[in-house]
Amino acid sequence: MKTYRIASIPGDGIGPEVIGAGLDVLDALARRDSGFALDVTAFDYGSDYYRRHGVMMPDGALERLKAFDAIYFGAVGAPDIPDHVTLWGLRLAICQGFDQYANVRPTRVLRGLDSPLRACAPADLDWVIVRENSEGEYAGQGGRSHRGHAEEVATEVAIFTRAGVARIMRFAFALAASRPRRHLTVVTKSNAQRHGMVLWDEVAAETARDFPEVTWDKMLVDAMTVRMVHAPASIDTVVATNLHADILSDLAAALAGSIGIAPTANVNPERNYPSMFEPIHGSAFDITGKGIANPVGAFWTASQMLEHLGEADAARRLMAAVERVTAAGIRTRDLGGDATTAEVTAAVIDAIEGGN
Ligand code: NAI
Ligand code: MG
Repeated sequence: MKTYRIASIPGDGIGPEVIGAGLDVLDALARRDSGFALDVTAFDYGSDYYRRHGVMMPDGALERLKAFDAIYFGAVGAPDIPDHVTLWGLRLAICQGFDQYANVRPTRVLRGLDSPLRACAPADLDWVIVRENSEGEYAGQGGRSHRGHAEEVATEVAIFTRAGVARIMRFAFALAASRPRRHLTVVTKSNAQRHGMVLWDEVAAETARDFPEVTWDKMLVDAMTVRMVHAPASIDTVVATNLHADILSDLAAALAGSIGIAPTANVNPERNYPSMFEPIHGSAFDITGKGIANPVGAFWTASQMLEHLGEADAARRLMAAVERVTAAGIRTRDLGGDATTAEVTAAVIDAIEGGN
């Protein structure tokens, strides 16, 4: 029997609520399946840690995390600490430190749920957005001078390297090739951003030659938002920069029903480092502690984690259990229901134990 070592970092806000639920569901799955076991170690990194120690995670944290097969992450962000401190101190530090350059964000309309788009049948919306996760607009380049003066200047420099663009493009084409539609949309803003985004277009065209089985098209990011709303069925796999895909994937989640269901995998494809799996939502201060957070995003990303670990069958069974529950109408408030986090979790565990 295989045992996988999982580092769990529940983090802030509703992070601990949904990661706790996810670990219960994973535990039920491992017990039922018996083909694998999970050895979970929890880390208390996050805003509470920051208040005690002045850093989001200690020196040497990456060295410790490196020993794990995967990281299961909740959310980071607190009302009393600037968001750039929490985000860069923990989540981005892990993504960059572990070269998790491919951020994979599947979106589809789960059984029993509806898209808020009137004309969108569930089969019309089945996308995977691939977000470049290591450079671009979130490379961390820039600075501020003349602070507080009228002449103050701040720069936020987007970095696009040929190596960085080529590797995410290759990843996206390969992912598109593995899906039934074999279609990739390359999103840029190469009319206005005439350097980095034109490099994207060129590298896309070069990479496409190696994937003759994939059809592909190009969209400007503003037009892409319109296409997502008006022609969802025309989209399958999408690749975009760090910033563009960040925004598009929130829109995608909302179009599929709720930000609370959406998962994301921060992947180091070469497997030199552990990859990190998280719901895409943040710490959601407005509902923290109320027991009503939707745990489905945390379940779905747990399924991504199992697939990454090589447990594709367990990954499928987990999503089948989740969709049994959504189809049965057991939903949290963000999906129009009145179930609590605990009730949805118990129902998914029942569905797992009942077999599916
Ligand atoms: P958010 O995703 O935390 O919340 C946006 C809205 O969606 C809120 O109304 C919230 O109640 C709702 N929502 C989010 N997840 C939900 C769930 N599972 N179930 C039900 N409703 C849910 O985004 P916001 O408000 O912009 O950011 C709050 C904090 O989270 C900030 O500090 C931000 O920096 C941080 N953040 C962290 C992320 C991460 O750790 N990956 C991602 C996004 C934001
Ligand atoms: Mg986001």
